[in-house]
Amino acid sequence: MTRILFAALALTAATAQAAPEVAKPDKTTTCAACHGEAGVSAIGMYPTLAGQYANYLEHSLKDYRSGARKNAIMGAQAANLTDAEIKQLALWYAAQKGPLYTPSVHGDLKP
Ligand code: HEC
Repeated sequence: MTRILFAALALTAATAQAAPEVAKPDKTTTCAACHGEAGVSAIGMYPTLAGQYANYLEHSLKDYRSGARKNAIMGAQAANLTDAEIKQLALWYAAQKGPLYTPSVHGDLKP
């Protein structure tokens, strides 16, 4: 019994390690049309999301949703997103590799 438990724990640990830190949200299917498959846009008029600060992306999406940031395209995109979906999208895009350089605000920035 103990052995089975250990095996199960080891398996869980291995699976947890292999899984990406943030699961890809389903909603990215829509976003990909403009912002690229992993948030790196191929067209200049669509901003690259990959590597931006998560809290900036979250803030932007909430502002599009509320109308505080006005853009007809993104207003419609964000209109039906829940807070949880916005958080997940922001975390996922922030974790993607892209050409943008966003230094850590927690001490990594060297003068
Ligand atoms: C039809 C094209 C289109 C789709 C689909 C789209 N976007 Fe956008 N997105 C834009 C455009 C255009 C802008 C720039 C708007 C502006 O000037 O404020 C933008 C801006 C943004 C920004 C602000 C980026 C910045 O640097 O300030 C975020 C965050 C964002 N989009 C996330 C999303 C997410 C998440 C989705 C999917 C749910 C999505 N977008 C779907 C076209 C699109």
